[in-house]
Amino acid sequence: MSSSGEAELLHTFKGIPFTTRSSPELLKSLDTFDAREDDVLLVSYPKSGTHWLAGVITKLYTTQVTITSPIEFGDISRLEELNKLSSKRIIPTHLDYNMLPPNFKNKKCKMIYISRNPKDTAVSMFHYYRDNPNLPTVDTWTAFFDLFLKGNVVCGSWFDHFLSWTEHEDEKNILFLFYEDMKKDLPKVVKEITLFLSLNVDDNDIQDICKKSSFSEMKNDTEKENSDPSHTVCALTSNRKLIFRKGAVGDWKNYFTPKQNIRFQEMFNEKMKLSKM
Ligand code: A3P
Repeated sequence: MSSSGEAELLHTFKGIPFTTRSSPELLKSLDTFDAREDDVLLVSYPKSGTHWLAGVITKLYTTQVTITSPIEFGDISRLEELNKLSSKRIIPTHLDYNMLPPNFKNKKCKMIYISRNPKDTAVSMFHYYRDNPNLPTVDTWTAFFDLFLKGNVVCGSWFDHFLSWTEHEDEKNILFLFYEDMKKDLPKVVKEITLFLSLNVDDNDIQDICKKSSFSEMKNDTEKENSDPSHTVCALTSNRKLIFRKGAVGDWKNYFTPKQNIRFQEMFNEKMKLSKM
């Protein structure tokens, strides 16, 4: 990673690297953000399938809902814009549990945490770093692998993020989902989401929504939509094509060397000792 790129594009807040798209003033003000009881949060570490989940969820509602860009993106005026939204808000976020505005916790807002095999997440993020001019330059997979393991990437350590959320796995207002389960049996996961959100969607509609949410359909929709690039869950790029890369499980095997796999596995085993999940 070039140090000049890093200096321009990232800053650290409470020990976590953020892009400069998240202003320090906004991050500081999150503690006082006013949540609404019917807000729904879509929580993820980057590259875990956030857009996929968002695409599914917006199709489940028949009433008007607004999917916002992540709460931590933008400058301080973003919070005012969010306050002014009159429709129900579906709010994505990559925040660690400890940084989440306390009001969401106190009001027991519904939150859906999606996670993905961190090895595939790392590979997906590597490509995102390489192709997205809003992120620091990274020259090789080897260099990125080291940054990822150290948590020296945007949103910090995958392990710390996952652990901060899974510590709360017993809380009834948080639903934990896995990307791999969505790949394996999307209708089953969508059914689970509808029950969690208390939405009445019949099985035929669920099947239909799943078809429309396949990787190829969503990628095609994006290509058609490109005339309106600002409409994106990820405020780090206006190029939605960067989001829909491969959509596969197990792509890490094409990148990890045997040695990297051992290093990753050792770190995973060590860190996950702390996880109840
Ligand atoms: P890859 O880079 O491995 O292809 P996020 O939305 O959190 O940024 O995650 C992006 C990842 O989710 C990308 O992974 C993208 O291809 C994948 N993805 C997006 N929509 C998908 C879908 N409908 N089905 C499967 N994977 C999808």
